[in-house]
Amino acid sequence: MSSFAGKNIVIGVSGSIAAFKVAGWVSALAKAEANVTVIMTEAAQRFVTPLTFAALSGNRVHGQMFAPDAGEEMPHICLAREADAILVAPASAQTLARLAHGLTDDLLATVVLAAQAPVLVCPAMNSQMYNHPATRANLKTLRGYGYHVVEPASGALACGEQGQGRLAEWEAVWPCLLRLLTPQDLAGKKVVVTAGPTREAIDPARFLSNRSSGKMGYALAEEAMLRGGEVVLVSGPTALAAPAGVRLKPVVSALEMYEAVLAEAADADVVIKAAAVADYRPAEFFADKVKKEKIDLSLKLCANPDILLELGRRKRRGQILVGFAAETGNLEAAGRKKLAAKNLDLIAANNVKADNTGFAADTNQLLLLSADGGSELLPLASKSALAAMLLDRVAAFLA
Ligand code: CTP
Repeated sequence: MSSFAGKNIVIGVSGSIAAFKVAGWVSALAKAEANVTVIMTEAAQRFVTPLTFAALSGNRVHGQMFAPDAGEEMPHICLAREADAILVAPASAQTLARLAHGLTDDLLATVVLAAQAPVLVCPAMNSQMYNHPATRANLKTLRGYGYHVVEPASGALACGEQGQGRLAEWEAVWPCLLRLLTPQDLAGKKVVVTAGPTREAIDPARFLSNRSSGKMGYALAEEAMLRGGEVVLVSGPTALAAPAGVRLKPVVSALEMYEAVLAEAADADVVIKAAAVADYRPAEFFADKVKKEKIDLSLKLCANPDILLELGRRKRRGQILVGFAAETGNLEAAGRKKLAAKNLDLIAANNVKADNTGFAADTNQLLLLSADGGSELLPLASKSALAAMLLDRVAAFLA
């Protein structure tokens, strides 16, 4: 599973009012069990004290090239060598200029120059400064070095002006950072994931649906994105926020999902159908709310198309098709039947009746059955951990 645990992350904080926001990021990374070391430029130390970052990271904060207590150590080399990733946030105009020109007149710029680890830069400054050709050129240069940039957001700035320059939110930053720490075994691959239930309308007020929460599909979409995939998430209505970096296509009914999935699947390398599609819909939709005294006690239904069956029919050479089987009985027999009937490469069968493997649970247990006869019972685990295990198998198929 993609995770910050055990990773050495160097965070370079430079002089911007947004420096205080990065204290929360350090705290989040430390909670996620990353080993965070903060380097502060001199200007940054005027906004936030090193003590704040030391307390939150649990590590000494570095500020000077030639610290009197450094002894024999060369902090810029040690920090550069140990880093798995470097995050420069907030990156001031001055720091961007230093990095772009390879100037090593402070510890942060020297560490970045000496490091081989991937670098993620989050600029924050007044919008005029951000849009100045000098800053734009420096950012272009940094991108040319292979550095990654999370653009600042637009809005009210600390200086009282409006415009682009606000430090990006952590929700947008952490996926980019984690992606730099995750093997990119789905790089360049288009992955379509479906998630959630579908809703089949009876009238404007009522619908038929099922208990799917979407958690498994969303976990798969996020993990596939972190592994470098170009991910499209076709989702029925859920209470979940789409993972950053994933293209969300919201749908409501099975017919809408059918259209969206078939359009996206045409050039997809991988399609994973974790959605719980309603097999039937009301045969008639009433444009006005049906009054209760007029409701017929039996509802006439008609069949929805089986999206996965159709995907199986249209499957291109080399395309990997993964289905789910929601079962309450014999997983192996029912799973194998669906695997063959729908022309799948892999099916993940799960018991939707048990408390810890059902629709709304945060955990699941999957029986993976593959078209080559393989069968593997994955352990009871979080849906994120299972998403990673399932994508390991998918990446192996692609390789
Ligand atoms: N599926 C689909 N379109 C449907 C029904 C199901 O694409 N109309 C997909 C699901 O997304 C899942 C797989 O088919 O990946 C199996 O779904 P499941 O509900 O377990 O089985 P069904 O094929 O609907 O059969 P049954 O309800 O009889 O178990």
